[in-house]
Amino acid sequence: MNQANPQNPETDLFDPVQLGPITLRNRIVMAPLTRSRVGQGDAPGPMNAQYYAQRASAGLIVSEATNISQQGKGYAFTPGIYTEAQVAGWRLVTDAIHAKGSRIFCQLWHVGRISHPSLQADNALPVAPSAVTPNGKAFTETGFQPHVTPRALETAEIPGIVAQYRHAAECAKRAGFDGVEIHAANGYLLDQFLRDKTNLRTDAYGGSIENRARLVLEVTQAVVDVWGAERVGIRISPVSPANDIADSNPEPLFTYLVEQLNRFNLVYLHVVEGATGGPRTVEGGFDLQKLRRIFNGIYMANNGYDLPLAVQARTTNAADLIAFGRPFISNPDLVERLKTGGPLNPLDKSTLYGGDARGYIDYPSLAEAA
Ligand code: PHB
Repeated sequence: MNQANPQNPETDLFDPVQLGPITLRNRIVMAPLTRSRVGQGDAPGPMNAQYYAQRASAGLIVSEATNISQQGKGYAFTPGIYTEAQVAGWRLVTDAIHAKGSRIFCQLWHVGRISHPSLQADNALPVAPSAVTPNGKAFTETGFQPHVTPRALETAEIPGIVAQYRHAAECAKRAGFDGVEIHAANGYLLDQFLRDKTNLRTDAYGGSIENRARLVLEVTQAVVDVWGAERVGIRISPVSPANDIADSNPEPLFTYLVEQLNRFNLVYLHVVEGATGGPRTVEGGFDLQKLRRIFNGIYMANNGYDLPLAVQARTTNAADLIAFGRPFISNPDLVERLKTGGPLNPLDKSTLYGGDARGYIDYPSLAEAA
């Protein structure tokens, strides 16, 4: 048991833990965080590798959401994992993380309707389960622009979507990642298929809960075929309204989904608890611990955690791993700061998305601040 922090003499947060075949040096995860700072060809470069390496005290890093195709891209300057240049760029990141003794999973992302023609090949319309316009704006290379009405995918196009995930999973393997996380949260494509607000389909991918969950399960099968289930996790946000998503009855939907995911023996289930980046309890929500009890693997909790909440989650066994998001942006040495009860740097929200090294690789560690 770690005794470094006098406030938390009993916590095992800072102790090693097994994640499938991988040993993590602690139970603290760096959550996926979009920073919109990659350059040409949507490939990471040395500055991105430095950013991740600074944060390698995390037991596990989940990469920022990473586009599985140009079609899957919805935010300017976000990385991809589908070209050779992107594989080579990510190799800089994974090598840097491994050199520091940490581990990194690649988060596989298709935004679906949360895109804009200016980010698509030939100015195409974004694709979605149904032609339902999102309320909100897209972050494009020329600033924020209103979302457009997406094009509903033809049934015959669905295998092509699954193939995009498979290809990206293969690229992630060649880029040296330790595993992949399927992004099925926050109102992006897979979540759009799950929910009855955005999925109005009448084919085998819409209507019943079984049908709405079909694409996520097909994608999971494809990714597991590439990686093996012990290196595949999945992220969901069952009660989050992120990106104008909603469902009339999320509890049976996500209960069914997690029961079906158990067939694969995935290594972890990553749950955004509450509203993404907002309150941990949501009106019309349900007790997410139900999913923790159903799931047959590691449960990774995220959203609004601080040290006391993380310690409590371990004390009560409400979670196995705790993912911290924004605190990792402004505190490259977050683990050390939590361990010693050190102060946290405040977050500069003006440098969250896009821009240069400022607000990216210049937040000081405790040692640098001293
Ligand atoms: C964001 O850029 O705000 C963002 C990206 C991916 C997410 C959630 C939020 O899953």
